[in-house]
Parts: sequence; C-alpha cells; structure tokens
Amino acid sequence: MPRKSAHHPPVPPSHAAHAVAEWFRHAARDLPWRTSPRDPYRSLVSEFMLQQTQVARVVPYFERFLRRFPTIRSLALADQADVLSLWSGLGYYRRARFLHDAARAVLERHGGIIPRDPDQLARLPGLGRYTAGAVASIVFGLRAPIVDGNVARVLLRLHGVRTPRDDGLRLAWGLADDLVNAAAEHDVPALNEGLMELGATVCTPRSPSCGSCPLAGLCLARSLGITGLIPEPKLPPARATITAVCVVIRDRRGRLLLEQRPDRGLWAGLWQVPTLESAPAAKARPPSAPKALRGLGLEGLTVSRRSAFSHATSHRDVRFVVLHADAPPDRPSRLTITPDGHPATARAWLTPARARALALSNPQRSIIEDAAGLTSSTSSLSRARRRAGPSSSR
Ligand code: ADE
Repeated sequence: MPRKSAHHPPVPPSHAAHAVAEWFRHAARDLPWRTSPRDPYRSLVSEFMLQQTQVARVVPYFERFLRRFPTIRSLALADQADVLSLWSGLGYYRRARFLHDAARAVLERHGGIIPRDPDQLARLPGLGRYTAGAVASIVFGLRAPIVDGNVARVLLRLHGVRTPRDDGLRLAWGLADDLVNAAAEHDVPALNEGLMELGATVCTPRSPSCGSCPLAGLCLARSLGITGLIPEPKLPPARATITAVCVVIRDRRGRLLLEQRPDRGLWAGLWQVPTLESAPAAKARPPSAPKALRGLGLEGLTVSRRSAFSHATSHRDVRFVVLHADAPPDRPSRLTITPDGHPATARAWLTPARARALALSNPQRSIIEDAAGLTSSTSSLSRARRRAGPSSSR
C-alpha cells in the first residue's frame, strides 16, 4: 500500500512543474538531439535508442545513425540489414527493427510527416505511451505525460510514496499527468525532458544530489528521510545460463562460414558463426564437440583449437565454447545447408571484411575478429573474457 505522511501537505503541481522546467533550461546537457527547434525525427531516433540505454552510450550511435539516415524517408527506404548494422553493439535489437518499421509507417500512413498527436504516435510500431508522450510533449509541446524509470523515481520521491514497483509506475503516470496539466503551456517540453534529466543526473537511485535539486524544498521523501527507500529495492532477477557452442570454420580462401539468427529472441536477426545454443536453465553444460558439430550439420570436421569465455546479457549468462575447424577441401558449400531443427535461417561463406560489416552481437564480433586475425595478439576475445563480468553488456 502506498504510504504518505498525514502531516505533509500535498506538493503543489504547478510549483513543481515550473521549478523543473526552469532548472532544465539551464542544466540541460548538450546532446545532439536537443536542437533548437526540436526535430521530430531526431527526437524519435533518440527516444528509441534511449529505451534501456544510457545517454553516454547512445550519443556516438545516434550521430552515426543520423549521418547514414539523415531523414525519416532515408530510414524508411533503407535495407533492414543496414539499419541493424548501425545498431550493432547497442543491444536490444528489436528497437532497431521497430524504429525502421515506424519510419516506414510514417511514410505510408502520414506521407513522411511524423504526427503530433500522441494517440497517432502510439499506433506506430514500437512506440508505447512513453515514447509517444516524449515526442508529442518535447517536440510539439502537447500536454502528454511521460514516465520511465527515472521519472517514476523523481515523482514517487517528490510525493513520498513507498510502494512496490508496479504500483509505483501506475501511480507515477497519474502524478506525471497532474504535473503536465498544471504546467504553464510554455513549460511543458522542459518539464517533461527535465524530469528525465533530473532522474538521470540528480535524483539518482543511490546517493542522489539533493543539494542541487530544484525540487528539494518540495520533496516529501527528503523531509521524511526516506529517499533511499524509494523506489523499494528490487529482488535480483533469477539469472539463467545458456551454453553456446560456436564453430569457426575457414575455407581455403580464408572466408568464414556465417549464419543469420532467427528474427525472434536473443540477438534476433544478427549474424554469427554456426552456433548451437542450449535452452536457458539454472545450470547448463555444453555438449561435447562431436555432438555440437552433429547438431549443427558440421559432422566430419576436425577441431584444431578450442577456447571458452562467458558473457552476461541483462537476463542471462551465456557460456561460449569456441571450436576452430578447417572446411573440408571438397564441396565446402555443403556446410551452408543447415540441418533440420537448427534455427539459423541462412548460411554463407564471407570474407572477414564482409563479416565485420554485418550486424553482430558483441561476443560474436569478438569471435569473428579473433578468428580473422584482425586484432592484435591481445585479442578481442581475451578482452571479452575479461569484460564478461556481472554487468550487463550485449
Ligand atoms: N531518456 C530518454 N529520453 C531522454 C531525453 N530526451 N533526455 C534525457 N534522457 C532521456
């Protein structure tokens, strides 16, 4: 149940809205999508990239993406492989496919003009209430609320609400709606983006900088001394392990055998060396090399080298075993046929340069670069091994 102190007056939403907007006008970080005036396409791309990913990581991807696809039309007409390739390394690749689909839908349904109306925006692929509200309010100044994890934390602390997470999100949408409706019209964009900025830079989960917060004087959590209890600590998610046996096969011309992952699930649509993956389990052991080769339709190859490393995604630990083998001199094309039951959708022999240009997950990029000898002797694979800690990386 939400708990609020009976001794504290409710926070006046128009004061709070104005304080955040004023603060944002001078404290906003200089970011490449914060042009004046705001551009709806840049805003849309940035909001997709910022879902689940921090600003500092997004900036270089955003700049490269905009250089390659400077308009919504150029994005809509692009090949999906090119879009995914520019997203490669940023993770959560579903976002790239959705953004691409959204660009196509804007071209088809709205003549290439991004709509202003939050309901029309929310009907585009991959745009939920949050992204639709962000574009409608930040770019077009409409009174649409937005709540992400950062905004929820700011609002629940401001109102001194201690409550389990799902409840907290629902309550935060109501509080965000109150604020955006109480704000002066010209404050709406700076209010909404300011709430996100405040959550990202000041009202942080641990050790918030209350001394520089524009809401400090109004904040009930602060006056009650319960800032650290909001949001309520989350139980760590149960982590499952996957084993992935990857086979690096080179033909006599130095080309590598690659396959594309299915378009659903982990690393959907990305490319990899032939890989046999286990289902997620509490504990998983990789199959033996002969069994893995059989499972991949690669029986008969001789394994010359073997290495292993681990990689942590947001929800899973993936234990990679990498086998190196040479293609048989006769008919290497037979290896491009995937066995029944193996989910890969396509296989091809590719030069290392072409392989590198494909959309690859970070661990597969390490494997491929290592195999192609494109990196120095302190290989990217050993770096990947060192990186493979508890932190989330894709
Ligand atoms: N997170 C998501 N959207 C953002 C924005 N426009 N500014 C800062 N952080 C964000």
